[in-house]
Amino acid sequence: MPTSIFHKLSRYVQDTCGIQLPIEKKTMVEGRIRKRMKALGISDFTDYYRLAFDHKRNNYELVHMVDALTTNKTHFFRESAHFEYLQNNLVSPQGTVNAWSAGCSSGEEVYTLAIVLSNILREGRINNFKIVGSDISTKVLQTAAQAVYPESAIDGLPLTIKKRYFLRSKDRMNKTVKISSGIREKVQFQKLNLMDNIYRFPFSFDIIFCRNVLIYFNKTKQSEVIAKLTTNLCVGGLLFLGHSESLPALDDNLIQIQPTIYQRR
Ligand SMILES: C[S@@+](CC[C@H](N)C(=O)[O-])C[C@H]1O[C@@H](n2cnc3c(N)ncnc32)[C@H](O)[C@@H]1O
Repeated sequence: MPTSIFHKLSRYVQDTCGIQLPIEKKTMVEGRIRKRMKALGISDFTDYYRLAFDHKRNNYELVHMVDALTTNKTHFFRESAHFEYLQNNLVSPQGTVNAWSAGCSSGEEVYTLAIVLSNILREGRINNFKIVGSDISTKVLQTAAQAVYPESAIDGLPLTIKKRYFLRSKDRMNKTVKISSGIREKVQFQKLNLMDNIYRFPFSFDIIFCRNVLIYFNKTKQSEVIAKLTTNLCVGGLLFLGHSESLPALDDNLIQIQPTIYQRR
């Protein structure tokens, strides 16, 4: 990929999605774009660049490009200490607990949260819950909404959880599982770019997960995103960041209650 094209692509992704793609990521970017070019039958990076940035058309290729350049690694019960914290501490017997997974990728984080909140609901410590999952990538949101995963994705989970919350296909050749309808009906997905000026929701959240997303942004963007997320958090609500993430700067509206768990004052 010519360096000038790499810089144009990385500038676009940084400006629109906040994701930093320094020159060290050039091989990664090249590999991912090449895959997309193969699907389109294009062999030249300059031709691809023209196709993506030809704004005379209503250009859907930019959506694919963002899909290709986001990193969507996730799995069920990832960084399980956060789920254990909720299992051990969450009590909210009145109203509905509203949770948001911001940067939810293909949905495993949302469904894990739903499983944990369902368990807490069964214990009568909460009254009801709803979860919103959001991401900038259209492709992962489609997977999340389908709620179908390879059987191997739930390999290590306890049998009670597998039996209660995952449906196996009747066709034994089909090695996939689907999230049970009781869980799916508590969850909705939407496209949301964390770089948007404000996040519009009709209510505040009791729980926000924004894990392993901030690492892709620079410090200024991280602070802005944290401030906007905090605005959407109820007083007493909890914000969870990824295990390798922390607040870029002290925030007067948040108290740290564990290394990556914060509570709104
Ligand atoms: C590594 S995944 C993390 C998934 C999940 N939170 C977890 O910890 O397992 C990061 C996700 O953040 C999303 N993302 C990156 N930039 C974003 C932005 N500006 N707005 C919304 N989502 C974004 C990516 O598309 C990707 O799915």
